[in-house]
Amino acid sequence: MASFKCLACMTIISLLVSYSFNGCIADPALIDSICRPSVDYAFCISFVGNDPRAPTANLHGLALISISVTAISIQDTQDKIYKLLHQVKDPVTLSRLRRCQSDYNEALSNFQSSFTATSRNSFFEAIDLVRTGTNKVIGCHNRFRRGPGPGPIATSPIDVNDSNIFKLSGIIKIAVDKLIPKK
Ligand SMILES: *[C@@H]1O[C@H](CO)[C@@H](O)[C@H](O)[C@H]1NC(C)=O
Repeated sequence: MASFKCLACMTIISLLVSYSFNGCIADPALIDSICRPSVDYAFCISFVGNDPRAPTANLHGLALISISVTAISIQDTQDKIYKLLHQVKDPVTLSRLRRCQSDYNEALSNFQSSFTATSRNSFFEAIDLVRTGTNKVIGCHNRFRRGPGPGPIATSPIDVNDSNIFKLSGIIKIAVDKLIPKK
């Protein structure tokens, strides 16, 4: 009985090992082909490459993963904006953040549409939507710098989060662009 248990155990271990070779260690070259041309390689690996779905994904899958990672970052930033709206007292910052809230709402819907466009292989449409969504976040970012609207130049409380969206948007463009058949 003991040896049977041992055998069963070894079978499970060998299944796990072969799964990890066949299923988990897939194509780092594919991830690299998207992350190398991006502005921040380490960022790209940590946000997209380390996604649990990435190792088994093909290029189309990686494009979809990049978009879904971006949508999640936008949602996390929306939560952060919501919290800030209940903490910040300064009226100028508050009004800027309220505008950012709608910028981010619109950006989320643009990125969600770009996910749909990518899934049905409408790559040019997907890239347009990524550009539109990114412009919404740029709009939010600029409210703290050069307006529109009154108030001093300031560092946005979601400065890092805006930058993360910019980096992710660059990664999506690289991945989706690779899916467009070249003449
Ligand atoms: C937002 O930025 C903060 C640092 O300011 C960081 O800790 C957090 O992870 C960021 N969230 C997202 C979704 O980028």
